[in-house]
Amino acid sequence: MNDNNENNNDFTPPPADYGQLVKWFRQATPYINAHRHKTFVISLGGEALLDANISNIIHDIALLNSLSIRIVIVHGCRAQLQNKLAEKNINSPLVEGLRVTDAATMDKVIEAASLVRSQLETRLSMGLAPSAMHSVKVRVASANVITAKPAGIINGVDLQLTGTVRNIDTLAITSLLDTGNVVLLSALGYSPSGDCFNLAYDHVATEIAQSLAADKLIAFTQLSGIHDHDGHLIRELTPASAAQLITDQTLAPAVLPLAKAAIAAVKGGVPRAHIMSYCDDGALLQELYSVDGAGTLISQANFEQIRSASADDVSAIIEMISPLEEQGVLVRRDREKLAAEIDYFTVIERDGLIIAIAALYPYQTDSAKHHATLGEIACIVTHADYRNGNRGARLLETIENQAQAMGIEQVFVLTTQTAHWFIENGFSEGSVAELPEEKQSLYNYQRNAKVLFKPLA
Ligand SMILES: CC(C)(COP(=O)(O)OP(=O)(O)OC[C@H]1O[C@@H](n2cnc3c(N)ncnc32)[C@H](O)[C@@H]1OP(=O)(O)O)[C@@H](O)C(=O)NCCC(=O)NCCS
Repeated sequence: MNDNNENNNDFTPPPADYGQLVKWFRQATPYINAHRHKTFVISLGGEALLDANISNIIHDIALLNSLSIRIVIVHGCRAQLQNKLAEKNINSPLVEGLRVTDAATMDKVIEAASLVRSQLETRLSMGLAPSAMHSVKVRVASANVITAKPAGIINGVDLQLTGTVRNIDTLAITSLLDTGNVVLLSALGYSPSGDCFNLAYDHVATEIAQSLAADKLIAFTQLSGIHDHDGHLIRELTPASAAQLITDQTLAPAVLPLAKAAIAAVKGGVPRAHIMSYCDDGALLQELYSVDGAGTLISQANFEQIRSASADDVSAIIEMISPLEEQGVLVRRDREKLAAEIDYFTVIERDGLIIAIAALYPYQTDSAKHHATLGEIACIVTHADYRNGNRGARLLETIENQAQAMGIEQVFVLTTQTAHWFIENGFSEGSVAELPEEKQSLYNYQRNAKVLFKPLA
């Protein structure tokens, strides 16, 4: 029985496969922790709001908000505007994808933007009525935080009230986020002289993400993301390789402006931009909380980083080693000692998650030499979802280099189940007698671990 049952008598859980649910929840936990208190800017085009899946997207955005993610939504209204212009027979041409916004068109832009904004506000404020989250209150705040300037004349055509971003009141957005609001912004900007400008929502989202130093920019399109020449979804791209796809004219027109916005955001310092489908129920959650994702991630080259561990990594390391200690693959480590010895650890971090760890413990065996001559490699673990990607070997190489830099001449490892992996990585079998004395005295003969050595050239 879940805790909410007392309050939510009308919520009946579906006849779910609870085994799957538990597995999924465990797998999502590190992502839940990694995303908490992060800032995500979500751009939603007008066409996304007309799709049947929009209520699921809004539900999932509310869910992110309840998981302490700071959310800014920037919405467009092109599809709604198109209808309004057609109703009044207003012709407003596009120049290089930008609308020529005369005064009559601008009135319709304001109408369409207000309509979309109030629809979004209503959906977000509904309290997620049909779900178990109906009592979760989502506070929505809209604000006039964008100062704009005219886009000017392009190809000899004056775009009139079409504008570009001049300045963003970051402080105002931050204070709304700090008080727990979902910030909802239309792509309208105001000039100090009192004009209102029509802005491209994808461009606004990029500018806002950069000015807030957001952690992610998230964009929705009709397709599942960016596809290659053969139509296969590309999971991860650097800005340079995404730009190459644009040069090669590989991208579908629906994705092109979002890809450009994502590239600009990442080049401008936003660590990650995601493009996914607005038609696909659950794409947002799958992209953010699963290993495989659902769409395309654009990020600078280093999706993964090898670095020294810090105190902040202790709980992630414990989470990784605990099941292996229970299985007897690793010897159980005292948690306080582990925290005190965190400097011995090196980790691989990916998208804010620790996915591989290894430790190097130095031993001084030659008193004539005033530095450690022997090093123990311990706790080398790659998260089960990320194995066989050469990460173990890369980590081993990194800590062997560290050891050499410290003057260590030889490393050893004690292992019951992974001897062959170490042998394939240059280790050979030795004896307990070759271990440092303090290690020999702790050797557990019942466990009967193999002792393997590797000289460092
Ligand atoms: C050992 C371990 C760290 C390797 O991580 P990894 O990131 O998958 O490493 P690599 O990609 O460099 O190596 C993968 C290769 O090692 C092999 N391998 C993995 N575990 C092995 C084992 N116990 N014995 C023999 N080979 C093993 C894989 O089959 C794969 O071989 P392949 O490329 O021929 O298919 C990982 O399997 C792990 O975390 N194991 C559980 C913890 C453990 O045993 N740690 C050692 C404690 S002393």
